[in-house]
Amino acid sequence: MALASPGSGICATAVPRPARDRSSCMNCLTLAHSSRAFGSLRTTPIRLWVSSRRLRLRGTVMTAAIPVDVGNGVKEATLYVPQELHTQVTHSMPPEKIELFKSLEDWAEENVLPYLKSVEKCWQPQDYLPEPSSEGFLDEVKELRQRAAELPDDYLVCLVGDMITEEALPTYQTMLNTLDGVRDVTGASLTSWARWTRAWTAEENRHGDLLNKYLYLTGRVDMRVIEKTIQYLIGSGMDPQTENSPYLGFIYTSFQERATFVSHGNTARQAKEFGDFKLAQICGIIAADERRHENAYTKIVEKLFELDPDDTILALEDMMRKKISMPAHLMYDGNDRNIFDKFSLVAQRTGVYTAKDYADILEHLVKRWNVEKLSGLSSRGQQAQDYVCKLANRIRKLEERASRVKKGPKTASFSWIFNREVALQ
Ligand SMILES: [Fe+2]
Ligand SMILES: [Fe+2]
Repeated sequence: MALASPGSGICATAVPRPARDRSSCMNCLTLAHSSRAFGSLRTTPIRLWVSSRRLRLRGTVMTAAIPVDVGNGVKEATLYVPQELHTQVTHSMPPEKIELFKSLEDWAEENVLPYLKSVEKCWQPQDYLPEPSSEGFLDEVKELRQRAAELPDDYLVCLVGDMITEEALPTYQTMLNTLDGVRDVTGASLTSWARWTRAWTAEENRHGDLLNKYLYLTGRVDMRVIEKTIQYLIGSGMDPQTENSPYLGFIYTSFQERATFVSHGNTARQAKEFGDFKLAQICGIIAADERRHENAYTKIVEKLFELDPDDTILALEDMMRKKISMPAHLMYDGNDRNIFDKFSLVAQRTGVYTAKDYADILEHLVKRWNVEKLSGLSSRGQQAQDYVCKLANRIRKLEERASRVKKGPKTASFSWIFNREVALQ
């Protein structure tokens, strides 16, 4: 779900930060009053030139690509610059909190690492794909293509979008390594936090790999443009607004693992309805991994609620006010700057991932962390608790209202499926 961020001013320590504390060093910015909440495609950009001065913005900022002369008078933007970045806030967690995460090393060893599976017990993509060394390989591919021929275009768009999201894995490992107190400081650190991050990445790596190979074999999608989209996406990174804080970071990953569990679960169910049982199995085993990862990340946040309920509830409020942006929100295929919004609309319409799912995930996490029953909070903490506990219903009401007033284009073409048209609403 593409949710525009209002850019909250509350950090993990609950102190609303004044404008001058937040800086941006971009030279050229375009402000966008984004009205994309719950899938609307409208954005109203306002150009603004800024030179080396600090800037605090409520809302989304857009960066512009600066054309470079590549000879013979030809100007080209050689490096793609992502469209939407929020004001960059860094290291909002007070340094003394880093000690808290260091003190949790042994706890993480005993309580988080067991959620990983040993490599020998893990499934591998090849377990679910035609075996290229066998004589029956071509027949197996033929069968796969016959089954995939029945998959509708809107389903393929969702599956491709999910696969591209998984394939941008280097970005997610980077994101985890932005977090103070838990990052992998050497690349082969033996702390339990670092071992978790690397092994989690290694498990996740199988998801994009399997979906990518499957989609390639179907012959139904334009692999070259998909590969370009992956390259653009990894080059753009992501902007989860987690401010190097593991409080914000682990709330974000708890939400995201649940979101991927839901969306892969839905693509599994739909594949079964379309008669592709092998694909249903593929999406199902990926969903099961996501669920296991969700359990690990929610366990970490549960521990934070136990040790530091006030700052944890404030972090949850902060992430929800900023809205959980999807990891692939900077998606671009080299041509269509709205491709992520369009993909989100198709996912919403087909029921692969909807605004209702977003509200349900929040409600699920609030229950999982027993947020309603938290006691001994400061008055600011109680306000955050109240906000978070009522939010899922507010989102559902807003979504209900929004779904009655449908605006924007009814259909769109997608480069990923050779520019065939798909209904958006
Ligand atoms: Fe995944
Ligand atoms: Fe995951």
